[in-house]
Amino acid sequence: MKILKNIKTLYTASHKDSFKLIRIQNAALVWDKYSILWVGQESAIPEQFADVESVDAQNKIVIPGLIDCHTHLAFAGNRWAETTLKIQGKSYLEIAESGGGIRSTVAATREASLEELEEEAQKRLVLCKKRGITTIECKSGYGLDLETELKLLRVYRHLAAKNPDIRIFSTLLAAHTIPAEYQHDRRGYIDLIKNEIIPMVASENLAVFFDIFVEKGAFSFDEAMELGDFAKKYGFKIKLHVDQLSHQRGAELSLKLTAVSADHLEYIVEDDFNIMKQAGTVAVSLPTASAYLNQPVLPARKLLEARIPVAVATDFNPGSAPVSDLLFSMNLAVTLQRMTADEVLLGVTTHAAKALNLHDVGKLQTGYKPEFLLLEIDSLEEWIYGFRSEIVPERV
Ligand code: NIG
Ligand code: FE
Repeated sequence: MKILKNIKTLYTASHKDSFKLIRIQNAALVWDKYSILWVGQESAIPEQFADVESVDAQNKIVIPGLIDCHTHLAFAGNRWAETTLKIQGKSYLEIAESGGGIRSTVAATREASLEELEEEAQKRLVLCKKRGITTIECKSGYGLDLETELKLLRVYRHLAAKNPDIRIFSTLLAAHTIPAEYQHDRRGYIDLIKNEIIPMVASENLAVFFDIFVEKGAFSFDEAMELGDFAKKYGFKIKLHVDQLSHQRGAELSLKLTAVSADHLEYIVEDDFNIMKQAGTVAVSLPTASAYLNQPVLPARKLLEARIPVAVATDFNPGSAPVSDLLFSMNLAVTLQRMTADEVLLGVTTHAAKALNLHDVGKLQTGYKPEFLLLEIDSLEEWIYGFRSEIVPERV
């Protein structure tokens, strides 16, 4: 058991209300190997903790460990050559139709060995850890055949074993797009997902979530219903890439599939809000993708006013969001989505935890996992709005 003292300000979601960030000045925090035992003002430390070994926070601020709840961490190759096409105004779908986009990363990823994929993904993971990420979600989706989808998920399994200092959740995203060889046989690919990919991934216990990209050029509402219902029978929880480039009734899908999160939502409409609330689904905002694709951002302010939790994540991938730095997404959530720094911190901690169906991380409250960071900065605003990416979070 230890006690962290001399904390300038401790930031956490309130115990009862996950939409409320509380700031405790001159705070202290008591924890053991498994959980947080007490949080409060240093002047009010209970008698029973009086003799506990103390650690000096050196007047730094303390925040919960950061959670990146949406990444495509493992892939091969890069798509930098598409940059100019994008700037010249070619759309995401046009680039995809001309052989670029997801399919070009699929081709490179099929070529790469598991070891090569793991080596690159490990380097990316080290960077994430340095930036204070303590929990990360990682998707497959650049294989789109049984062998390569398994290869990607096995990479994540290896990473999880080799990196005990970060929690990794894997997501099966075989329903990312229709691979080239099934271009004229959608049914064939959907059957492959159902008959081979889902059962194999489930039998090896390689993923917790099943994700579907619902969009023109990817999967339809009805196909998402069919695949999602099927995946649920194997125990997967559902995530969605939806309403990114056009309205695809993401809220309705969320409700029907009891999705844990609906991600992107740039085209969600206000009529959907009640359905989202009823579904209990977290809205995951991915402002980096909006910025890079020159798309509108999701209506974060209105969602939050309706008390729908808005998480913030990187969507790190080689195409629409080639930046793995969560602080960059947090900055865009403030500047483009008009979220306050407090709301953004909730978005990368407590709401992001909910988007991963986690109930004991993301808050610094009694009973939660002892995952916290020290930052040598005066305020959250300076760190996020000022994009002080050189301030390196320290783990205790
Ligand atoms: O989240 N929307 C679909 N999938 C990814 C993009 C992946 C890619 O372009 O390689 C996304 O934006
Ligand atoms: Fe994504």
